[in-house]
Amino acid sequence: MATSRIRTQVGIVGAGPAGLMLSHLLHLAGIESVVIEARSRQYCEERVRAGLLEQGTVDLFTETGLGERMNRIGLLHHGLNLRYHRQTHRIDFEELAGGKGVMIYPQQQVLQDLFTARVNAGGQLFFEAQNVKLQNFNPSSSENAEIHFRHGDRDHVIVCDFIAGCDGFHGVSRPSIPSDVLTPFVRHYPFGWLGILAEAPPSWHELIYAHHERGFALLTMRTPQLSRLYLQCEPDDEVSNWPDSRIWEELHTRLESDGWSLTEGPIVQKGVTPMTSFVIEPMQYGKLFLAGDAAHIVPPTGAKGLNLAIADIRVLAPAFIEFYKSSRRELLNRYSDTCLRRVWKVQRFSWWMTAMLHIFKEDNPFDRRRQIAELDYVTSSRAAAQTLAENYVGLPFD
Ligand code: PHB
Repeated sequence: MATSRIRTQVGIVGAGPAGLMLSHLLHLAGIESVVIEARSRQYCEERVRAGLLEQGTVDLFTETGLGERMNRIGLLHHGLNLRYHRQTHRIDFEELAGGKGVMIYPQQQVLQDLFTARVNAGGQLFFEAQNVKLQNFNPSSSENAEIHFRHGDRDHVIVCDFIAGCDGFHGVSRPSIPSDVLTPFVRHYPFGWLGILAEAPPSWHELIYAHHERGFALLTMRTPQLSRLYLQCEPDDEVSNWPDSRIWEELHTRLESDGWSLTEGPIVQKGVTPMTSFVIEPMQYGKLFLAGDAAHIVPPTGAKGLNLAIADIRVLAPAFIEFYKSSRRELLNRYSDTCLRRVWKVQRFSWWMTAMLHIFKEDNPFDRRRQIAELDYVTSSRAAAQTLAENYVGLPFD
């Protein structure tokens, strides 16, 4: 069968939050795009991922017509809690971050809302795209960029002006760029997170980040009936090392605090997340623009991954829109520099939260005392607490 040719303006690789949000924003501006995704729609909609949206992400969803269900069932939080030495210290966003907040709204639901919006608008999406290859995007190529892929039993090629590589850390977009023009910046952490979903009402109405000598623990939630909990574990740990009884025992120990208790419930999902900080520079090569995890990943401690992906799209969509309106390339040319300024600030914050809250086995007694002093400072100085709050709800966009 002959290869089918699809002409569009922007070809988007990856139907995660970045790719779909880009397609949505371009559509609102009258610009065509086609999205391809290696996984099935069901896989994308069911995979348990992050669940916390910064104020700016919430606002963008609301302003662009995606906020109906989010504003109805999302859980708005105006503070978080730091717990160490069995004491709980609240960071109040209303007081410290100018009334801004964050919302618990799981990534699966973000994706469902985006899929629905794209499909209702007649958007073209190909799931289970195989053998994806990006071509003609290098700076010297005067031809249109191309995305080749196989879908079902048919070969397709998307012919486009630009490619947005939104296909995650393991996607094909970043490795398609010659490695000698990219500089990677990497930091691995000597631990991972074991995450569980438990059918139990959240034991507190806000998140609790706990520092404990046995390791970090986090209490968060998905719905008023469903708790999400995390434990610092070995970097190469396996779920099979964590029977339910061991998980609850560690959670009780690490989250322990006077006058408070953790409610248990059936564990319905378990997974181990590695912890890495990664940035690639630059985030653009010729007609290929990287966004989201394809360009950077953060450890989950600051809950920034999804929000940073959406922040990239906040830069990329207006850059394409300006180009199609007025043929000007200034914003496109500045894309990488503009994004990287925020990326590095968010990297710094995610690294700092991670360093403050986890046990690093190699730390000596000096480091341990310094770490407690850091928590003591953040929970007793308004200036320090405000720094945390400002970053947590999301830095302003310039
Ligand atoms: C989550 O709800 O999954 C979550 C919340 C905050 C984090 C990380 C994960 O820092």
